[in-house]
Amino acid sequence: MIKGPKLLVVATGNPGKLREMQLYLADLDLELRLKPDEIEVEETGTTFMENACLKASKVALATGEWALADDSGLQVDALKGAPGIYSARYGSTDSERIQRLLQELGNETNRGAQFVCALALSCPDGSIALQVEATCRGEILHSPRGSNGFGYDPIFYVPEKKLTFAEMTPETKSLVSHRGKAFQALLPQLKQLQAQA
Ligand code: IMP
Repeated sequence: MIKGPKLLVVATGNPGKLREMQLYLADLDLELRLKPDEIEVEETGTTFMENACLKASKVALATGEWALADDSGLQVDALKGAPGIYSARYGSTDSERIQRLLQELGNETNRGAQFVCALALSCPDGSIALQVEATCRGEILHSPRGSNGFGYDPIFYVPEKKLTFAEMTPETKSLVSHRGKAFQALLPQLKQLQAQA
């Protein structure tokens, strides 16, 4: 029988994601460790889930520990789903990525978009134990608003809350965001795995 995790290596180098993941995992009896810098994983998958699984497996195999990876990004309807899995590679800084997206969208009136988050948990032997995916629908504003969060947060407006992700507190973002919803789905399954330990 596979024994569940007590220690989890978080397979991300993105500090914004890490902060959110720590918040979502805070209630679990779980020691979190950040992936060592020298382990780099090429995101060669064609979907968010493929990339999340690649990252989780590689980090688990390299450390000999359980590993959790997030692959996420923004899909803009009028740009046929771009930047999608290339969200991180759309520019070299958050503000460059935002400017490029706003420029490509121009005065387009269809501003619909969604964030997607795929989470994969790998056993120490590199096999995938859990995978979940969640989305959050919203609209792309014409200019940034708010200073919380990271990435594309200042231009992603959630009509239901009348706020951009960057105007939300971390707690509000956790209730509605793609990553928050993915963790809401993952946590009960992770607790069940831990109970097997
Ligand atoms: P990944 O490391 O390949 O998963 O890159 C995901 C990229 O998508 C990040 O660098 C951000 O630019 C963007 N992204 C993912 N989640 C969020 C979010 O919650 N808010 C804003 N941008 C995000």
